[in-house]
Amino acid sequence: MELIVTQNYKQSCQKAANMIKDIIVQKNDAKLGLATGSTPIGVYQRLVRLHQANELDFSKVRTVNLDEYVGLSSDHPQSYRYFMDKHLFDHINIHKDNTFVVSGMGDLASNALQLDRMIYQGGVPDLQLLGIGSNGHIGFNEPADTLIAESHLEQLSESTIQANARFFDKAEQVPTQAITMGIKGIFAARKILLLATGIEKKQAVSNLFQDSVICPHNPSSFLKLHANVTVIIDSQLAQHVDPQKHTICYAC
Ligand code: GLP
Repeated sequence: MELIVTQNYKQSCQKAANMIKDIIVQKNDAKLGLATGSTPIGVYQRLVRLHQANELDFSKVRTVNLDEYVGLSSDHPQSYRYFMDKHLFDHINIHKDNTFVVSGMGDLASNALQLDRMIYQGGVPDLQLLGIGSNGHIGFNEPADTLIAESHLEQLSESTIQANARFFDKAEQVPTQAITMGIKGIFAARKILLLATGIEKKQAVSNLFQDSVICPHNPSSFLKLHANVTVIIDSQLAQHVDPQKHTICYAC
């Protein structure tokens, strides 16, 4: 895993957005695997600015998102479809038909199958953007004795429900289930770019870089098996990574 340390969140987002820009400039019909949560918001803002400055054309870009809450329709303000429209798609020249966020309504098993098909349809993602849960989850693959390779229905852990309660009026309103890409779907991407920020991610980041152990109780540890992973963190989190064990590249 390549580790890039930046001075702050803003610089991390710039770095990530520039990496995404480079991919789209090289390949105008690039396919992006996208993530939600508060972490990627700054990346999306930067991509919108690049588009507004006529530096980035999304007209042929295709996207597939990691996950969606079960029970929230696409027009629910906390659904991940709504999030993607609000933070990115409504502000760039992407064709909505070229964007895919799995539905969390209706026949969940067939929705999960559809998500798996969309990962591969027209070629695998050129890049998968990831955040990380403070418990080490990626997508909504929660720590457990076993992980599921394919897209599937996931029971959210109590800690994830609590962490995501800040987006809802009450913790009881947080959905308890989600459909998520499995580790196999995430790994289909040619490149994985994980962004982490905030001191509450200290343990997750430290565990990710601690040793070469892979353990389903830390789903992010499976990233060690992918050949092309870049992790971007800011200097606050970098204090929790052992510099002896990792080549740290400081962004300029
Ligand atoms: C959610 C999403 C993840 C995201 C995580 C962290 O649970 N399913 O994809 O990485 O939250 O979110 P945040 O960036 O808000 O800390």
